Amino acid sequence: MKNILLSKSKEELDTINSFNYQWSHLSDSKYLLTEESWKSSVDQYILDELSVTREWIRNKTVIDVGCGGGRWSYGFVKLGCKVTSVDISEGPCELTKRNVPQADVIAADLFELQQALDNKKFDIVWCWGVIHHTSNPHRAFEALTTLMHQNSIIHLYVYSFKRAIKVKRLRKLLKFFSLKNRELIIRFLIKAGILHGSVHELYDSLSTQINHEIGESVLKKWFEEYNLKYQRYTPQWTRHSRDLFVTGSKISEGANKI
Ligand SMILES: C[S@@+](CC[C@H](N)C(=O)[O-])C[C@H]1O[C@@H](n2cnc3c(N)ncnc32)[C@H](O)[C@@H]1O
Repeated sequence: MKNILLSKSKEELDTINSFNYQWSHLSDSKYLLTEESWKSSVDQYILDELSVTREWIRNKTVIDVGCGGGRWSYGFVKLGCKVTSVDISEGPCELTKRNVPQADVIAADLFELQQALDNKKFDIVWCWGVIHHTSNPHRAFEALTTLMHQNSIIHLYVYSFKRAIKVKRLRKLLKFFSLKNRELIIRFLIKAGILHGSVHELYDSLSTQINHEIGESVLKKWFEEYNLKYQRYTPQWTRHSRDLFVTGSKISEGANKI
């Protein structure tokens, strides 16, 4: 684990440690595996987001990059896929191992995945809510495309709309506090009626220091650059409908029609 983190900047380390703390201490929230309705619906959410059928997806190989607590890996296992789950830190990896014992869980940096996985390719490359938290989302996207073969599909959720100034100010302020104190401040602000939502969700958006907002024209350009057909779908359950939920497939003969 230490080696993965050696090359990271202070800001990147803070973001990674924040996620490690969040998944180790605040893993209970709406839309996570602690909620029965998530467990029963996540397989359908995946089919809708990818716009594929249950028959098509069965037995596909999937890599869930930046798996967090494994809520998507769980859904892919339910759909009969062979799942590899990857995260950069220990907290999320341990939680995913507990939540999804069927998945092959690997602690690795998405920028180094090709080496870590011996150049392995996957039918579905799933990366939900991750690349905007890295130092270089474009390079992260490029790294993900190296996990694709000719018929693979890739799916991303990325921040796109501009968050409110007060959110950005609060992030800047919280970085001066320890990870535990950030949690206590968020809890206090919820109690005082100043913030609304679960501690998990608010910690995710306020404690992490790297939060790129990627415009749709930029994302479309990246897809073009890698010869990927761009298909956007906004799920009904999400509260982030102004962000981007996008699937790409290679534009070439024999590629899957999605
Ligand atoms: C917002 S969470 C999303 C988790 C999960 N995809 C989900 O939807 O529940 C982002 C996750 O990406 C992981 N992550 C951030 N940078 C990463 C990197 N360079 N390589 C691998 N994982 C990374 C974090 O540790 C964190 O668990």
